[in-house]
Amino acid sequence: MNHFELVEASGGPELVCEGVPLATIAQAVGTPVYVYSSATLERHFTVLRDALAGAGLKDPLIAFAVKANSNVAVLRTLAQAGAGADVVSEGEIRRALAAGVPPERIVFSGVGKTEAEIAFALEAGVAEINLESEAELHLVDAVAQRLGRRAAVAIRVNPDVEAGGHAKISTGKAENKFGVSLGEAERLYAKASNMAGVRPMGVACHIGSQIADLAPLEAAFGKMRALVERLRGEGLSVARLDLGGGLGVPYFNQPPPPEPAAYAAMIARVMAGLADIQFAFEPGRMIAANAGVLVARVLHVNARPEGRRFLVLDAAMNDLLRPAMYDAFHDIRPVRPREGASQLYDVVGPICETGDTFTRDRLLPPLMAGDLVAFMTAGAYGAAMSSEYNSRLLAPEVLVKGDRYAVVRPRPTYDDMLGRERGAPWQD
Ligand code: LLP
Repeated sequence: MNHFELVEASGGPELVCEGVPLATIAQAVGTPVYVYSSATLERHFTVLRDALAGAGLKDPLIAFAVKANSNVAVLRTLAQAGAGADVVSEGEIRRALAAGVPPERIVFSGVGKTEAEIAFALEAGVAEINLESEAELHLVDAVAQRLGRRAAVAIRVNPDVEAGGHAKISTGKAENKFGVSLGEAERLYAKASNMAGVRPMGVACHIGSQIADLAPLEAAFGKMRALVERLRGEGLSVARLDLGGGLGVPYFNQPPPPEPAAYAAMIARVMAGLADIQFAFEPGRMIAANAGVLVARVLHVNARPEGRRFLVLDAAMNDLLRPAMYDAFHDIRPVRPREGASQLYDVVGPICETGDTFTRDRLLPPLMAGDLVAFMTAGAYGAAMSSEYNSRLLAPEVLVKGDRYAVVRPRPTYDDMLGRERGAPWQD
């Protein structure tokens, strides 16, 4: 459930975010603009937390995957609800800290952490560094020893299961670049327990994103449980099992993903009897995707004599990359739907390449130049993946709470954009 709905207003039905009409925000802030709902973010977090608690999984760490939505005000909303942060760079650590996430709830993942990033994480007191290779184990050990610290680490395991979904976002097959094999994990865990700069405290896995089926998760989690038991059998202490993120969200035209309660019940079943373990989760999309929309304005409707009808928007692939990159489907809704028969549109942006197409042959109510549309399910991997391609300014971000809204990332100015660059000395 989310808090974007069509309500009856004096001028006809209109799409609102909680108590604020999207048209009001578009008018005040301009388009394209990302709009996030605080109530939806909080609700998704609470639903997951309650589902896990309901299944008897006590006091888990729910570390929001900052890569999905790294806006500091969004992170603060989640931090205030009790979320931690799953981060993959120094920039994300800084964002999480700026949002008030306590370092003991920050998990640092990623296949290529630099020495400087590891040092920064250790100085900041980050709770867990997920190691993705033997080389990284040695690097973290060396950096921690140099700083006079002992790094709490988890070994990221690649459980070699097929998670389904788009190949570009699958992470848990042996051929993917992430983590080490189960056998390697056992060897590295034992090795790490004898190193002065690291303290192995758990194992982690994350097999993919937009997973619509519990079976691959269950297969992976079963392997993780067996690994924990093997490690414990060798006398090693394992305090935490990090099960990653990946749970899918309802997309308009796709099979519904598993409910959080079913996910939690499956985990409780797979882990039954495993004592003294703290579970950690790294959800991104299921918390943020349906908590955000991208609002754009129709610039032109180009009806070709030979048939195709192009809806040219002021938003483009630089603002929302997912359709171009993954053929992702985003529901598109008119902010103030007009009466009349629906028509087929190719919805495109102004960028100079054919890939700047959000969708083809989409049946939409009649639209005219000047109308506003909202791309739904854009709160995860939307603004976070945007760029200034074609020297377009980054879309601003707005956070709604009840009947209030605030611009939490303003649209930059062209001076901001150009001010970041300078000429070479020989050009003066
Ligand atoms: N933990 C790790 C280690 C990850 O790599 C990811 C996502 C997550 C957690 C969060 O996964 P989620 O719960 O959001 O599925 N840009 C793509 C998605 C890439 C996901 C990468 N890793 C998209 O727009 O669909």
